[in-house]
Amino acid sequence: MTTLTMSTARPTSLPADAVVIGVVKGPQGPALAPGAEAVADTFDGPLTDSLSALGVTGAEGETVKLLSPIGLKARLVLAVGLGNAPDDGVYDTDALRRAAGVATRTLAGAPKVLLALPADTADAVEAVGLGGLLGTYDFTAYRSCGTGDGKAPVAELVILVGTGADDEALLRACVVGQELNRARDLINMPANDLYPQSFAALVQAAGREHGLTVEVFDENALTEGAFGGILGVGQGSANPPRLVKIAYTHPKADTSLAFVGKGITYDSGGISLKPVGFNEIMKRDMSGAAAVFAAVMATARLGLQVNITGWLAMAENMPSGSATRPGDVLRMYGGKTVEVVNTDAEGRLVLGDALVRAGEDKPDAIVDVATLTGAMVLALGKRTFGVMSNDSAFRDRIMHATKRAGEDAWPMPLTPALRKGLDSTVADIANSGERMGGGLAAGLFLQEFVPDHTPWAHLDIAGPAFHEGEPYGYTPKGGTGSAVRTLIQVALDAAAGGLR
Ligand code: BES
Ligand code: MN
Ligand code: ZN
Repeated sequence: MTTLTMSTARPTSLPADAVVIGVVKGPQGPALAPGAEAVADTFDGPLTDSLSALGVTGAEGETVKLLSPIGLKARLVLAVGLGNAPDDGVYDTDALRRAAGVATRTLAGAPKVLLALPADTADAVEAVGLGGLLGTYDFTAYRSCGTGDGKAPVAELVILVGTGADDEALLRACVVGQELNRARDLINMPANDLYPQSFAALVQAAGREHGLTVEVFDENALTEGAFGGILGVGQGSANPPRLVKIAYTHPKADTSLAFVGKGITYDSGGISLKPVGFNEIMKRDMSGAAAVFAAVMATARLGLQVNITGWLAMAENMPSGSATRPGDVLRMYGGKTVEVVNTDAEGRLVLGDALVRAGEDKPDAIVDVATLTGAMVLALGKRTFGVMSNDSAFRDRIMHATKRAGEDAWPMPLTPALRKGLDSTVADIANSGERMGGGLAAGLFLQEFVPDHTPWAHLDIAGPAFHEGEPYGYTPKGGTGSAVRTLIQVALDAAAGGLR
């Protein structure tokens, strides 16, 4: 695992494999970002002239490597583009995260890297540290030696800071980076190794390591408790379902939150089988549960003054002789009946149970996270998640949290008229109906399982949970860790008394 530390030493004096500096777009070509001064001074003549000659403009994502001059103990200099310089001198934290991520990804293979990026405030230190850690991510668990690009992730990251060094900011970067990368690992893990039982065991082990209370409801406990949604989705698989409760409490907390995550370890669609082209990476369908797990872990490790209960609803959605059939009626936890019109609309079934159970503890607010609908991907694309809520003020707070966390999200309505499309001729509600507005209908379905006066938000991360293209910024190929930072920001806000 990459270590992250801070130093007030001069960037020229520390031995390292590389030192990273920032370049911005200036009116007359590239200009240096704060933090780069001492490094630039070791070059003969203005460094910006050399950068300009090399074609550097300062555009975001641009990188160029330079051999270090004699005055520098680091062996090479990596200049990374930050885009336009901010008018007020305060760098946007997500721009810093992205630049640091690009830098550490580009420098894979270099054991020790110094980050001489703008880091003069606690927020900037946190952003540079977090982006740097997220950029080191590489999923190598299934590669034999000598395959892949063979470059080990940067092992040691040192943020060079001014006098305003902030230990708490560094700790936040470390913890959020590690837990978010853990969520990515879980998402990337293939479904033959990550199934409800093994997922639950991993959560239990990690939770206990950090003093969290973890309770696993196995198939017997689920039957005993009448969790008909989770059981109904899981009954077609040889791998039985699980509901995992992971709780963190702070003795002085005055706000309690419930986070609920969709944990479908593989979504084949069930009897309503997905066609080829739609089932290849459905191992990602537990990204919501992974995000909730990571956020609860991070909250606990940071000792935030808030109570958080995570509910991870885990099942494998498979077709078989014992699978739920289209037309079957399930009795959900809490007693509502659902006609399963389409076994591929399984996320809402496991979440329905978990939401009712979460609501029983009377939390001050509930947030669920799920790779719930293809419709949300069609609506918002693969970079943005949708935010729905039964309470517009709460939705605004969540949106505000997404912005500060640097995540791309957009509010979506829960249009009441769409509820009619979920009417069932035999049960209280159907799990699927009218195709148009499918992402919103899914939200309306979930709303039925949320207590009336509890603020609740639903994050549909089906698009951004998994990245299939080339890496960019701090985002790798594969599991992205979507919603982890938003959930942690919500916990931070609650701890600061700002969620009520
Ligand atoms: N897990 C899928 C949604 C999904 C689609 C996630 C693409 C990630 C990428 C979900 O269980 C599903 O199959 N939803 C159906 C619902 C429909 C049957 C009402 C969908 O969106 O097609
Ligand atoms: Mn499905
Ligand atoms: Zn699914």
